[in-house]
Order: sequence, then C-alpha cells, then structure tokens
Amino acid sequence: MQRDPADFPHIDPGGPIISLRGVTKAFGQHTVLEDVTFDVPKCKITAILGPSGTGKSVLLKHIVGLLKPDRGEIWVDGEKITGMEEKDIYRVRRKFGVLFQDGALFGSLNLYDNIAFPLREHTKRSEKQIAEIVYRNAEMVGLLDHLKKLPGEVSGGMKKRAGLARAMVLDPEIVLFDEPDSGLDPVRVAYLSELIVSMQHESQATFFIITHNIESVMRVADYLGVLFRSHLVRFASKEEMLATDDPVITQFLAGRPDGPIGMDEMADTRDDWLATANHATNGKQAVAH
Ligand SMILES: Nc1ncnc2c1ncn2[C@@H]1O[C@H](COP(=O)(O)OP(=O)(O)OP(=O)(O)O)[C@@H](O)[C@H]1O
Ligand SMILES: [Mg+2]
Repeated sequence: MQRDPADFPHIDPGGPIISLRGVTKAFGQHTVLEDVTFDVPKCKITAILGPSGTGKSVLLKHIVGLLKPDRGEIWVDGEKITGMEEKDIYRVRRKFGVLFQDGALFGSLNLYDNIAFPLREHTKRSEKQIAEIVYRNAEMVGLLDHLKKLPGEVSGGMKKRAGLARAMVLDPEIVLFDEPDSGLDPVRVAYLSELIVSMQHESQATFFIITHNIESVMRVADYLGVLFRSHLVRFASKEEMLATDDPVITQFLAGRPDGPIGMDEMADTRDDWLATANHATNGKQAVAH
C-alpha cells in the first residue's frame, strides 16, 4: 500500500541528508526491499544492520543511484535522485565517498596511487597538493609506512584502511561503508571502529555504515536501523533502540537464540549469524511483519 509522504515520520527536523520514502525493489519475483522509509541525520553515524542477503548492499546502491527503486523516492541533500537524469546523478554522487566491501583497490596501483586516484580523476590539483592530501589521510589511517606497497602485499585490515583513506580524500559530505568490518579479526574491528568514530568527528561528514556486526554498531552508531526480511523493522537513535521492548529488535541486538526470529529466517544466513552474533537458532515461529 502506498502511503502519503506527509505521513512519514521525520526524526530530524533540522533536515536529513538522505531520505528514503517507501522504497520498494524486486528482482523478478523476489522483493528485496519493501516500503523502506527512514531519514539519515546530517553529521552523525548511522548504521543499517541486518543478516546476510536482506538487501543491505541493494539499499546502498539505491542511495548512490546505481539501482533505481520500483516504487518510492530517494532524496540526497535536498534533491530527489529518483527520476533524475544520469548527469545530475553523477553530480550528486560526488558528494559521496564510498568504502566498498572488499576495499575495491586497484591491484596494479600501490596504496599511494590508490589513495591519490580520486584526486587525479576529479580535481585539477597539482601533484604537490595531492601528495599533501594523500599523506594527511594516510597518516590518519596509520598507513604512512606502507604507501609503496601494492594491495596484494598488505593485510585485509590495511586494505580496508587504504579504502577508507581513499573514500575521504575528496572531503565528501557523506561517507558510505559497505561492511567495513567483514573479514577482519575482532582486534582489527575494534581498531577500525575507533578510526571511523575519530574520522567522523574530525570531518563532521555524515557516515552511513552497512554491516552485520552488532558489536561494531554498538561502538560507532548514533542512529541505527534493522533490516529484516525486506523490511526496515525500525529506525531510531541507538538509545531508543536499546530501550525498546520490541522482541525482534531486542533479540536482534542481544544476539539471543530465544525470541521471535526463528530458524526459517536464518536458514540461509546461519553461518553469518553464528560468526557475528553467536546466534544459535531454535526454530521458533516466523516474525509476522
Ligand atoms: N542485480 C541483482 N539482480 C538480482 N538479484 C539481486 C541483485 N542484487 C542483489 N540481488 C539479490 O538481492 C538480495 C539482497 O542482496 P544484497 O547484496 O543486498 O544482500 P546483503 O544484505 O548486502 O547481504 P551480505 O550481508 O551478504 O552482503 C539477494 O538475494 C541477492 O541475490
Ligand atoms: Mg552486502
């Protein structure tokens, strides 16, 4: 059912930087996102949490205009990107820095050239100016001593940090992270979480993080949403989420085996859950949403 946009709640009257209104997307028979509505507050860290395969990456691709919804609207910094011409979407996209799931570094370029890449591609800065920015960002993520190495010669955590430095070089208003912590050990996850918080404080950019790591969400997020079975179960401040007695949210955030989320939902994602949240499933009835 289509709702009137006036009915949608606004959590930040000061003006959200990203707004989704009733976003619905299906691939063939498979509805991946259904009526997803939320506002991302400016200059805060927002995280979207959900098991593997619930549409988190699909959601992120909608926000940068790489996928178009079947229904609903997406607004970025006051502009509606749904229905926008490609050249305008390209302009809006420059507000974003994106850290992709695997770092997405160019394998044949060393870390310096990878971090410098957006500056060479999108600005007319001199090599001297570029070097200053690259060194400043590399220092922030602790990579100054490794800039001559190729991505294949460094660890997964270093690749993520190089991806983070690269996402920041154009001083983006919005930084999107697709699972910054996947494939990292708990110590690196903790380190990366601290880095994300300090970089957000320093840059005052809006950070939007997609993850299934509940622990890191608790460390970094100001606002969070839980995506589950195509729906956004709830979107609110972390404090409100922690105070809620909604059984789905409480089970989700605590990673508890007992509760309304049952075996059915976990069937194809159990390994992820066990790995990230120590979930054991008990086959209780499905959540009706
Ligand atoms: N271009 C596409 N065409 C068809 N189906 C797609 C496409 N992109 C994603 N899907 C499907 O949409 C669903 C959600 O995918 P998505 O990548 O968003 O999951 P996710 O929540 O990011 O999972 P993970 O945590 O494993 O990264 C999956 O079932 C996937 O197969
Ligand atoms: Mg994904």
